Amino acid sequence: REKLILDVDTGIDDAIAIILAVKSRQFDILGITTVNGNVSLDSATRNTYKILDLLGEQAIPVIKGANTPILRNTFFEHRIHGEDGLGGALKDVHVKQHNDDGFAPDFMINSILGFSKKVTLVMTGPLTNLALAVKKCPQIAKHVKEVIFMGGVIQGVGNVTPTSEYNTYVDPEAAKIVLHAGFESITQVGLDVTRKALLTDEHIQLITNRTLANYIKESTADYRNKYFERNGVFACAMHDPLAVGVALQKDLVTREKYYVDVETKSELCDGQMVCDLQNRLMKPANLNVSLGVNAKEFFNLFIRIINS
Ligand code: BDR
Ligand code: CA
Repeated sequence: REKLILDVDTGIDDAIAIILAVKSRQFDILGITTVNGNVSLDSATRNTYKILDLLGEQAIPVIKGANTPILRNTFFEHRIHGEDGLGGALKDVHVKQHNDDGFAPDFMINSILGFSKKVTLVMTGPLTNLALAVKKCPQIAKHVKEVIFMGGVIQGVGNVTPTSEYNTYVDPEAAKIVLHAGFESITQVGLDVTRKALLTDEHIQLITNRTLANYIKESTADYRNKYFERNGVFACAMHDPLAVGVALQKDLVTREKYYVDVETKSELCDGQMVCDLQNRLMKPANLNVSLGVNAKEFFNLFIRIINS
């Protein structure tokens, strides 16, 4: 099984990404690292424990990471994920006290350098933890099998500002560091494809595991309502689960390699992912960009795994 570290800022879709990764049984999950993002670091960590409890998977280590972006202030996304981050689901579930078990960037470094088999990283929050790891120990880049991150948008519009997607907007400096760290294989799963992976009522009805069906239904209810107000369909984008999906099945997305950078010094465009689609800058390509997705196949996989 592939060795995996999952890095999350556990909001609604991160939680479903965790469920998918764990239930797939395809990975040896070395640890789940948490980061400030949709909610505070403590809330993201608490939510992660709640999901692992729901799955009965308390043995997977959870390691806390950065509680702010590298240079900027926190920017929570309560609008979408609710006060707690799980859309109000599991709010009365008590999480037992856990001791802090190290710091996520150090955990990443030690895990990446500690095994003869290369580790895969799936990142579904701002890229702060990985950027801190790379700054401290640049040689890890050559020892990672693949980085797959949810973030950015190439050909569409942003979801926080007109130009920028949430994860790259929250910590653009971190995204920039990660893009230039020299990872042999690094894949972006951005809004271009995740906006097409829409979870609907029909999908939820296909989930036979009652506990998970109820949880997903409740946790996504407000999120789907908001989408309905704008688009007339009760649906919500499975941004983060699609990143896990790509780790499970490579051909869910079509990828092309380009030179990509992230804007960090602009009044209007901070966090924008700038992709040199026509090679104007003549710089070596540094990122696999996902531009097409087989959403139907993703949901087949998703439902199959959740029901297993
Ligand atoms: C990303 O932003 C967060 O709110 C989601 O969890 C996802 O990682 C989508 O832009
Ligand atoms: Ca996320």
